Amino acid sequence: MTFSRRSFLGNAIQLAIITIAGFGSASALAAKPVVMGFSQVGAESEWRTANTLSIKDAAKKDGINLKFADAQQKQENQVKAIRSFIAQKVDVIAFSPVVETGWDTVLREAKAAKIPVILTDRAVNVTDTSLYVTFIGSDFVEEGRRAGRWLLERAKKTPDRTLNIVELQGTVGSAPAIDRKNGFEQAIAGNAKIKIIRSQTGDFTRAKGKEVMEAFLKSQGKNINVVYAHNDDMAIGAIQAIEEAGMKPGTDIIIISIDGVKGAFEAMIAGKLNVTVECSPLLGPQLMQVARDVLAGKPVPKRITTEEGVFPAEVAAKEFPNRKY
Ligand code: AHR
Repeated sequence: MTFSRRSFLGNAIQLAIITIAGFGSASALAAKPVVMGFSQVGAESEWRTANTLSIKDAAKKDGINLKFADAQQKQENQVKAIRSFIAQKVDVIAFSPVVETGWDTVLREAKAAKIPVILTDRAVNVTDTSLYVTFIGSDFVEEGRRAGRWLLERAKKTPDRTLNIVELQGTVGSAPAIDRKNGFEQAIAGNAKIKIIRSQTGDFTRAKGKEVMEAFLKSQGKNINVVYAHNDDMAIGAIQAIEEAGMKPGTDIIIISIDGVKGAFEAMIAGKLNVTVECSPLLGPQLMQVARDVLAGKPVPKRITTEEGVFPAEVAAKEFPNRKY
C-alpha cells in the first residue's frame, strides 16, 4: 500500500470534521438553556414591578429561558401555572406564593415530576419542607419589629403622649401580612400608651390603602396618631386620604411603612412619610444563581435571607440617588 500525501490530508480533514461535528453536538447539548417556570403574585405594587423586572433581567443576562406567568393575586392562577410548568417539563420552578397555605398537593406533583421548586419573596406553610429546595427572601417578622422599634424610639420624644395606631395589613393570608403584623406587635408589646386601635387589609395596593384609610378617618377622626402600613403603596394611598381629609401626613399623623421603593423616598423628602423599612425586591440574580446550583447538584441553604436596612425621613434626600428600585 503506497502512502499518498493527498489521502493522508483527506483523512486528516475528514477526522477533523468528524471531531468538530462531535464536539459541536456535545457543546450544543451542554449549551441547552435552562428552562425556568416562574409564577409571580401579580403587579399590585411598585415593589412587585421592581421584583418582576429584576427576575426578567437576571434570566436574560444569565441565558435562562424564563416562562413567566402573572397570577393577578389569585392562588388558583398560581396552581394552574405550576401545573402547566410541570406539563411542559421545565427544568426548575420558582414562585412567589400569594398566600402561605394550600400548596401541598401541587408541590407534591412537582416533586413527583422531579422538578425542583424554589420559593422567592414569600414562604409557604407546608408540613413536608422537602417539597421545596430553598426559600430566598426577606425576614418579614424582623421588618415588622424594625417598624415597631422605630416607633418606640420616636415615642421617647413624647413619653406622655398616647399613640393610637391604625394598621393597613397586606393581603390576607400572605406571609408578609402575617409576619409584619406579628413582628410589629412583638416590638410594641407591653407599652400601654402605644396601641393598635384598628387593623384592616388594604391588599398591598395604593387604591385599597386609600379606601381603608378613608374609612378609618371617618370612624376614628383625630383619634389616629400613627399609620402602620405593611407596604409603601398602601402608605401612599393613606397619605392621599389624610391630605384629602385636610390633615398633614407625616406631621399630624406619623406614617410608617415597609419596602423602601422610590415613591416612599419621594414621600419622605416631601415630609409626608416618616420612615420606610427596607424589603429588597432585587432577587433575580440570586434566584438564577441558586437555580443553576440546584440543577448542578450543589447543596444550597434551605433559607437565604436578604440583607436590609431602615430609612427614616432624615436620610431620605441623601439616600435617594442610591436607590435602585
Ligand atoms: O411580598 C412582598 C410584598 O408584596 C411587598 O412588601 C409588597 O409591596 C408586595 O406587594
